[in-house]
Order: sequence, then C-alpha cells, then structure tokens
Amino acid sequence: MPVPIIIDCDPGHDDAVAILLAAGDPAIDLLAITTVAGNQVLEKTTLNARRICTVAGITDVPIAAGCARPLVQPLIVADDVHGASGMDGPRFGEPTVEIVPEHAVDLMHRLLTGHPEPVTLVPTAPLTNIALLLTRHPDVAEHIREIVLMGGSTERGNRTPAAEFNIYADPEAADIVFRSGLPLTMCGLNVTHQALATPDVLARLDGLDTELGRICAELMTFFASTYRRLWGFEAPPLHDPVAVARVIDPEIVHCADASVAVELHGTHTRGATVVDLHQYLDRPVNARVAVALDRKKFWDRVIGAVDTLGRSRG
Ligand code: RIB
Ligand code: CA
Repeated sequence: MPVPIIIDCDPGHDDAVAILLAAGDPAIDLLAITTVAGNQVLEKTTLNARRICTVAGITDVPIAAGCARPLVQPLIVADDVHGASGMDGPRFGEPTVEIVPEHAVDLMHRLLTGHPEPVTLVPTAPLTNIALLLTRHPDVAEHIREIVLMGGSTERGNRTPAAEFNIYADPEAADIVFRSGLPLTMCGLNVTHQALATPDVLARLDGLDTELGRICAELMTFFASTYRRLWGFEAPPLHDPVAVARVIDPEIVHCADASVAVELHGTHTRGATVVDLHQYLDRPVNARVAVALDRKKFWDRVIGAVDTLGRSRG
C-alpha cells in the first residue's frame, strides 16, 4: 500500500527532485505540497513548487503556502546556492498549477485529521510550518505516522561550521520538532552528501529523452555549478530526495537510534544538531538518524520516478 505523505519544502533544486520522486514513485501517495520560506522568500519557493508541478504534470496534488519567516529570528535565504529565483538553471514558462487558498498549516491540519490513516510528514526545509502545526494543533499528533526530515548533520554544517541550513534558518522551530516526542527520522548532511548527482546520473536523466528528464539535468547542472564554486564539490548532493527515499524503502537509507538536541544558545554553534550516537549524555533516544545511503537503489528510484512522470507528459 502506498504511504500517504505531505512534503513541506522550499524549492530549491533538491526540493524539486524530492517532489518528483514523491509524485512519481508508486510507494508514495503524495497528499499535498506545502511551502515555506527558506532557500528563497516564500513567494519564490511557492512559485517554484507550482513550476515543477506544472512541468511534471502533477495537477492533482494541492499546493499551499505557509510561513514567510522563522518563528523568532530574521529570515535568511540561500540565494548563493539556489540563485535569485531559488531554482535557477532551466527556463520555466508561466505555471498553470495554482495554489489552494489555505495556509499550509491549515491544509496540513485538515488533511491529517481527515485522512483514514496516519500520514508521514516529510519536511525538506526550515521547520517553521511543522512547528506551528504542532503548537497550534496539538490534536494532530495522533494523525502523524512519523516525521522524516532532511536537516541537521552528525558532523559539520553547511551554513555555519556547526549548523546545517534547514536547522540554522529556524532553530526554535527545529527544537520544537525534535522535542515533540513524535517518531522522527533525521536525514542529515552526513548522509545526503552521499547522494551526489555524478555525470552518470545526469547522463541517465538526459537519456530518458523526455522534457522532464532534460529539466532535471539542467537543475542539477546549475546546482553542480554552485556546489563546485562554494564547496569544491565535483558533483551536487541531492539532499531532499533522501528523506523521500527513506519513506519509499527504509533499506535505501540506513539509520541508527540517537538522542538529538538542537543548540539554541551556543555563541558559535546555534542551530547545530547535537547527535549522540554513542549515548555519552545518557539522554532518551528521540530520533532515528540516517548514517548510510544505498546509492544505486536511491538513484534508480529517483530516475525511475522522473521517467514515469516524463512519459506521462510525453
Ligand atoms: O542544507 C540542505 C538543505 O537546505 C536542503 O533542504 C536544501 O534544499 C536547503 O533547503
Ligand atoms: Ca530544501
């Protein structure tokens, strides 16, 4: 049976591929896409969600815009990584997929409480919407099967030496989510940096010979240019689809139980995820933490999903 999920995202090149994987893989029932400010301002992340759904022919999944700024601190964006549009590279026409006139939190609450079985939340962005959902609607917890998020790291950060962007952009929201007591899986940089879109992956996408395959290759080509310039990566890591892949087949993303705390007050470490993989601090386990990726299975599912959607578009 397909797993019902809601993706909360900030497209974003890798968010876009996460949406395609969720919409194109038969193991997932994508109930909704909600957007939040992160890689770019809310207007742009929402427009980009509409753009990717338009080119992929995803017309039956509601898109709702959420929070335009973090809970406490000022908004930061990642235009250095994703460009001025938030999804630079391909040229997109005017999107035909519209958003629904509901706030993302209200849409999530309505869908979660109305769905016949618990739903998996897959945040691939700052956790502002998710934190607001859990605090405004505590009744929703029983309707959440688990939270499988892209964020944090067991090692170094990518926005500061200690903090990964999704957590650093709204640490208070992340702290609420990690202390919620809900089943939670964290796919951090330590594992998403294994999801490199190497030239053979781009060749497979181009080889699909569909418009969507070409758009994905162009997205990854732009992403590669910023990762080469900023971090010297030979190929770009596709962070966000790793969280979706974990829901599709837990064998693709191997995890270890750990206690995870979000640092809020460290002068140099605010936004860090402190992952205690060896129980040094004797704190209760509150997360499954991704530690290894089956690259072949991962890319086979990503490319398979893009192929499925691309063929249905012709
Ligand atoms: O640090 C990587 C994360 O930040 C990804 O979700 C990427 O899309 C950005 O949001
Ligand atoms: Ca993202």
